[in-house]
Amino acid sequence: MVRKSMILDVDTGSDDAIAMMYAMLSGEFDVKGIMVSFGNQPLPYTLKNTLKVRKLLRRDVKIYKGAAEPLMANMVQGFRNNTEIIPLEREEGGKSIAIHEKEFPLPEPEDAEEDERAVFWLIKALMQSDEKVTIVPLGPLTNLALALMAEPRIADKIEEIVCMGGGVQVTNITPCAEINFFNDPEAAKYVLNSGLPIRLITLDATHNSWFGYEEVERLKEIGNPAGDFAAYLLKNRIDAANMLGVRKVKKSAIHDVLAVAAVSHPEVITDIRRQKCDVDIGGSWARGGLFVDKRPSAVAEKPVYIAYRANKELLCDLLVEALKKYETAD
Ligand code: RIB
Ligand code: CA
Repeated sequence: MVRKSMILDVDTGSDDAIAMMYAMLSGEFDVKGIMVSFGNQPLPYTLKNTLKVRKLLRRDVKIYKGAAEPLMANMVQGFRNNTEIIPLEREEGGKSIAIHEKEFPLPEPEDAEEDERAVFWLIKALMQSDEKVTIVPLGPLTNLALALMAEPRIADKIEEIVCMGGGVQVTNITPCAEINFFNDPEAAKYVLNSGLPIRLITLDATHNSWFGYEEVERLKEIGNPAGDFAAYLLKNRIDAANMLGVRKVKKSAIHDVLAVAAVSHPEVITDIRRQKCDVDIGGSWARGGLFVDKRPSAVAEKPVYIAYRANKELLCDLLVEALKKYETAD
């Protein structure tokens, strides 16, 4: 099998961790490097969590520290005040309830990240690459936007961007926005309008492939450290979402793993449409929202494809098969 060249951009994060496991264990990808940004937690935590997952997986992929803050969002005054934000963690009885723990309960990493910063490395890696590379952003699009701005010629080396972000009918952090886009709306807008081929793995698709306690058991049954940790993360996602009132059903999407799986198994996405769309960068309710022009006259000039539905059974089978390779995958 020819492995697809891939660069991950994560904000690790429970579902980022599971996505990393799939990417590195499945044997389907040549992971050239992993960039890390702020997102689910501030950068020091997302970086440390990424290093911890690499240690758990015993893989020598290089990790690069990326953006600690969005392009402009911290300079947009007051937008948080007029938006209803869903809290993803809270303290209760001295204990933290969080969908994304600050620090994973894994051994401390011995090896650090590379000295070179993510954006500089990405530009160099792409400019020197003989082949086109698939970029898979699983957090804010800050690193990719910065690299494209600094060196537009990298566009020629990008096969495709398969990105977890946005939501059309489904949103999470605000009434209008999904969190990866909300965390850096200007970067999301820039990348979507870059003209590069993009598959957006939205909340519509990830919420169409929810995992429950049954899947926690399936992951546990794998019986190795990757399966155990994935089961722990999924159970925590389901429990925390319920305790925080984010969701009424006892299920959770493992958003980011769907994007990785869609790179090698496009059929895991069962409804995908090329549509005219953009990201709102205003300062009110709609900030960070992905909007689709549904008018019959709309022409999708950019090659942006929006995923709406996914095959949960296939996704779960693929994940289980990948994690089983913990002992053997190189
Ligand atoms: O909205 C889901 C996305 O937000 C996922 O990438 C998750 O890790 C968080 O970053
Ligand atoms: Ca993420």
